[in-house]
Order: sequence, then structure tokens, then C-alpha cells
Amino acid sequence: MPDWLKDAVFYEIYPQTYCDSNGDGIGDINGIISKLDYVKSLGCNAIWLNPVYDSPFMDAGYDVRNYYKVAERYGTNDDLKRLFEIAHKKDIKILLDLVPGHTSDQNEWFRQSKKAEMNEYSGRYIWTDSVWEAPPQYKFLCGITDRDGNYMVNFFSSQPALNYGFNNITHPAWQKSPSDPDCIATVEALKDIMRYWLDMGCDGFRVDMADSLVKNEDGEKPETCKIWKNVREMLDKDYPDAAIISEWCNPKVSIGAGFHSDFYLDHDNNGYRILFREKDNKTGECKAVFAKNGKGDITKFLDEYIDDLKGTKGKGYISFITCNHDTPRMTKMFTPLEAKIAYSFVFLTPGVPFLYYGDEIGMSFMEGLKSKEGGYSRTGTRTPMQWDSSENHGFSTASSDKLYLPVDTSENAVTVESQIDDPDSMLNTIKRVIALRHENKDLQADGDFEVVYAKKNTYPFIFKRGKFLIAVNPTEKEQSAPFTFECDPVFNIGKSCDNGKKLTMMPQSLSVLKIK
Ligand code: NOJ
Repeated sequence: MPDWLKDAVFYEIYPQTYCDSNGDGIGDINGIISKLDYVKSLGCNAIWLNPVYDSPFMDAGYDVRNYYKVAERYGTNDDLKRLFEIAHKKDIKILLDLVPGHTSDQNEWFRQSKKAEMNEYSGRYIWTDSVWEAPPQYKFLCGITDRDGNYMVNFFSSQPALNYGFNNITHPAWQKSPSDPDCIATVEALKDIMRYWLDMGCDGFRVDMADSLVKNEDGEKPETCKIWKNVREMLDKDYPDAAIISEWCNPKVSIGAGFHSDFYLDHDNNGYRILFREKDNKTGECKAVFAKNGKGDITKFLDEYIDDLKGTKGKGYISFITCNHDTPRMTKMFTPLEAKIAYSFVFLTPGVPFLYYGDEIGMSFMEGLKSKEGGYSRTGTRTPMQWDSSENHGFSTASSDKLYLPVDTSENAVTVESQIDDPDSMLNTIKRVIALRHENKDLQADGDFEVVYAKKNTYPFIFKRGKFLIAVNPTEKEQSAPFTFECDPVFNIGKSCDNGKKLTMMPQSLSVLKIK
């Protein structure tokens, strides 16, 4: 386990819309370099950078054309190397985004693979053995290549699935076993890509759709896990300080497969949804635990979370996120105060937390935007960072019609500049809670998480992390817990008070209390 993960707080940067240094309307690596001191000022000591590789951008860069080349719009490989070097001088780690499950259909491997003549790359992707063969349980593109066969896609149609083989082989004529030389060659090619960027100075990878490699396997996905164990062996041997963090959302399995941490994502019926996004199916009423209407049920979250936490203790971490580039910002559903409490909670959980750019100032989800580069409903979460009151909120000097996505120009649009001097702003609250985490080992990745008071449909809920109690009342009503503690408040949103018999939490409050 890389030691630095124990106190890592990540910042996710969507390169398109973070900071444009050359005025072409799109963010770039030099722009990111110019903001490293800002990242540091938040208390973030690590960055997850969304894909910056050469790509036709049918899926915002998750369709990689060349894994070894930085997309021109972001700069050059040398710029990226400089980013690693300057970040390291400031004690900031950088994770790149690794896309192992698919490439762009314009990737050279795929151009070769679709040729009628067999060649080194014929087996790099999943092809049926004839264009008349396309079993309906898979997603195939049919009859559009010289090669007599159909190819499987992993996500959008422009993203052919790389071939890591099948676990349960139902069509032996074209489904390969994961131990087939072609599938092994795919794994080796993936490891080559990792080595290339690690040798250049990156600190590891966030791994896209990490569970999607071997096809036709459910549950614990043993063959996909074998591949990641193999990758982890390489890291442990040659890059022991490099971290891999999975987009899998099944920490007991992914950590067992060798990942250092796994994202806790917004999935149907899971704990993350219950905390921040749950809605009544019929009425549409918000039932999230962190909504001020007080209709959420913390026990539903805890049932799942505590089990995952126990199952991964001492082996790896769970990564809470404020949001990411795929999900609506919390401010879509929540008022700024609801979001402030919810975001603060993220940094008080064990494991390795992630702050999505712009959430630190409570940026909005922009409604009604035209889809950009395969963003569709995700586009409103990807708008330019709002730095200050200058043109385009300081994101770019390009004219507004040249911007990658429009900047939020609404009257109440938040900016870093407008929050920096207000001690109660979202920005300063987030900085404070992150600072508290860095100052206290109990609040970091390995610190315990113990439920103190959590009852079905009841608030506040209270949990303990070492010598800290964290009491949360997201609701609009005053709420009390029937016992008291000898402690000092060290972080507050709203107020808590202790009358000797019960702990009373003011409406919409969160307190971190240090036990005496
Ligand atoms: C998950 C990524 O986060 C998302 O943005 C992308 O579209 C898909 N994987 C496909 O790579």
C-alpha cells in the first residue's frame, strides 16, 4: 500500500474546463499547472486527471486513439511531464485515467484489427467469426468492416471492447479463454501503457470500468480479478509507490483484486444513492439522508457501508466522492447549505475522498445544455470552472462562443474570488474540514468508523472516528440524541449544544466534537 494514500485527499480535474492557458476556449495542461497552488490551498494533495490522451472525443477522451500521446488540445507529452514534476515539488500526486476496457474505433490497433487480412491485432478486440453471427446478449456492430465478423462494443458504439477473453465460453468458435495468447497480449499491452506513464512520473491511475475486462462473468469476476492481480504484482515489484483506484463500486471484490481503493459511486439502490440522491419512485420526493426534508434513512446506507468497510479493513480503501464528471452535482438536488453539509461529510469518512472541481465553491449543475462530446445528461456537470469576476469567470480569454461549454453567467453564479474572504463560504468550510482531516490521524484513511447513534428515519446520526464524534442533522428541524458526551467542538456547520442530558443539534448542522 503506498503510504501517501493514508492521508490523501484527491481533487478531480476535468481538463477540458478547468483552466485555458492559451485562449482557445478549452482547458489545457499549462492551465492546470498554473492552478497547482490553488489545489494545494484547498488541502488537496493528489489529483485525478480525466483522460488527456489523443482521441476523437466521441466520449470526452474515454475513447483513446493513442495511449502514448497527449491530445494536442491539452498540450504535449512534455507538458504532462512538467505537470508531474511541478506537482511533485509541491507534494501533489497525479493519477492519470487508464481506460483498459476499450479504445476508440480510430485507435491504430483497431484499424489493424478490422482488416480482412489476419495480422498481429486481429485478436486484440472481440470479433465474431462471421457477420451473420451476433448473439443478442452482447452489443455488436455489424457489417461495417472489411473483416468478415462483428465486433463487440464496451460502452458507446465508437468504443470497441478490447479482448481479455470470456469466462463462461458459450460460442467456442470466437470466444477466447483469458489464457489465450491474444488475451495475454492485451494485458501486456495494458501494462506497457502503465509503465510508460509511470516512468514519466505519474503516480498511478484511476481505472475506468475496471470490472469490464473479461466477458461473461458475474459476481466476483474471478478472471477479471486475475488480470488486476497480475497488474498489482507489477506495481508492487517495480512501482511500489503507485496507486490504482477502481471504478468498480464493489470494494470487497476490487480490493481483493489488488486495487488500493474503490469508488463509492451513485448506483441504483446503493448506499451512496441513499445518502445523496435517493428519490421516491412514485412521487419523485427526495428521500436522501442529506436532504433537509428529513425523509432519509441512514440505516439503509449503514447496512451496506459497514459491511464493505469491514470486508476491506486493512486491505484497501473506499473512495467517497462529492460528485464526478458522470453524475449531477449535488447542487442540482440540494440547496447550498444541504450541499455544504453533505460535502463536509465526504471528508469525514475513512478511505480516500475525492473532491470534484468546482464543488468546493458549490458550482451548479447547468440545465438545458446541448450534449458535448458524448456528455448527454452529464454535460451540465462539466462546465468551466468559475474563478473570478473577469470574462468567462477567468476560465478562458476566448470569446464566449468559442468556449468548450458555456460558463455559468447567472447572477448568483459562485466564484472562488467571491468566496475566498467569507469564512463561512463553501470554499472555506471545505478547506477547514480538509485541514482538520490532515491534522488528525483518526480522521484519515485508516481511522476507525463506529456507529454511535443511527436509527431508522431518525436524526441526528452520530458516528465516532477515534477520539472524534461526528453528529449530523441535515434536517430543517432541531433534533436531539438522548445522551451527552464530554467533548469540545472542533468543526461546526450550524451549532450543536449539550445540556448535560442530551445532545441537541440545531437545524441543518454538522459538528465534529473532540472527546475529552
Ligand atoms: C466511465 C467514465 O467515467 C465515463 O465518463 C465514460 O463515458 C465511461 N466510463 C466509458 O469509458
